Amino acid sequence: MLVEKNVPLQPFNTFHIVAKALALVRVSGEEDVQALLADPEWAAQPKFVLGGGSNLVLTGDVKPLVLKVEIMGRRLVGETARHFVVEAGAGEAWHDFVAWTLEQGYTGLENMALIPGTVGASPVQNIGAYGVELQDRFESLDALDLQTGQVFTLNAAQCAFGYRDSVFKHGGTVTSGGQQTLGLKDRALILRVRFALPKVWKPVLGYADIEKKMAEHGVTEPTAQQIFDWVCAIRRAKLPDPAVIGNAGSFFKNPQVSPEQCADIIAREPRVVHYHLADGSIKLAAGWLIDSCGWKGKSVGQAGVYEKQALVLVNRGAGSDGNGATGGEVMTLAKAIQTSVYERFGILLEPEPVVL
Ligand code: EPU
Repeated sequence: MLVEKNVPLQPFNTFHIVAKALALVRVSGEEDVQALLADPEWAAQPKFVLGGGSNLVLTGDVKPLVLKVEIMGRRLVGETARHFVVEAGAGEAWHDFVAWTLEQGYTGLENMALIPGTVGASPVQNIGAYGVELQDRFESLDALDLQTGQVFTLNAAQCAFGYRDSVFKHGGTVTSGGQQTLGLKDRALILRVRFALPKVWKPVLGYADIEKKMAEHGVTEPTAQQIFDWVCAIRRAKLPDPAVIGNAGSFFKNPQVSPEQCADIIAREPRVVHYHLADGSIKLAAGWLIDSCGWKGKSVGQAGVYEKQALVLVNRGAGSDGNGATGGEVMTLAKAIQTSVYERFGILLEPEPVVL
């Protein structure tokens, strides 16, 4: 086990914010964590699990011991009458894994192509795009308890998935499906994730951007590969590539409101983009709310609002020269956006990324 000191984290967070980990360990298997827990110097230290760093705002050097997950591997591990069960190591890049599943003939993840980050981070955030969320394809995961060193397995119900939410984002207790479980924030290191990919595949359509691609190509029954290619094209057209412009994807969640609240907003702003959910509540497009407050293209220092998608905050100076946005600038911008959306619509936007 090698503990590296003062490790630059700029290459390990997609915002490309300059900060250091005071101490960092690369984890390529559970034995690396066991070794750490057996060492009295490190066992009791607070720890932070770092995946692809695609959902992270660093506001200074990181004091907890950083566990950088580099657990690799992807394979078919089982089969049921209706599904292929495919497993990937937590350190695999999410998009490469999605592309690999399609190459192998396993369909079902194509709507989530090109989401930045790692496989291990995907259940934490319950990532989703174009009508498919991770929980729709999730089978189970193995994780390691950072307090006891024990490895345990969780099924979907035990992960308490919600919209961009799971048991891994909460301390204390979490209620899911009427059951109470212990929150696993800062407690669990995800080792491997298994996905149940349907043998009889049906495309998930219905999103305007995808319907537009179908019309453009004159296709009514697209293949999984076509959806994968279109989702990549749609995302490339409106979301900044983190390799070029630092960002953490959508910065805020789309807020959920009651029909009464929505009617009140529509009365003032008839054009507000909203979607009716199965439970009777209504989801508003946070990007539209921010855009209509005039934020597109605005900046605080080197932190800015992306010109093509107001829900995405970007680092305008992401070079390695140290002149990029600080985490403080990103959070000042985020707070200013929250205030103006709250003043105009009475809605407090909730940030998606972890702020450290
Ligand atoms: N809109 C504007 N102005 C903007 C941005 C959006 O008017 O600046 C409007 C759009 O025209 C559209 C609506 O708002 O009518 C929704 O925008 P979009 O389709 O781009 O999707 P989104 O709600 O902003 C969500 C997810 C994305 C996911 C897409 C596609 C969240 C927080 N974001 O974005 O996920 O890729 O839907 O499914 O749920 C992420 O979580 O990091 C992410 C990128």
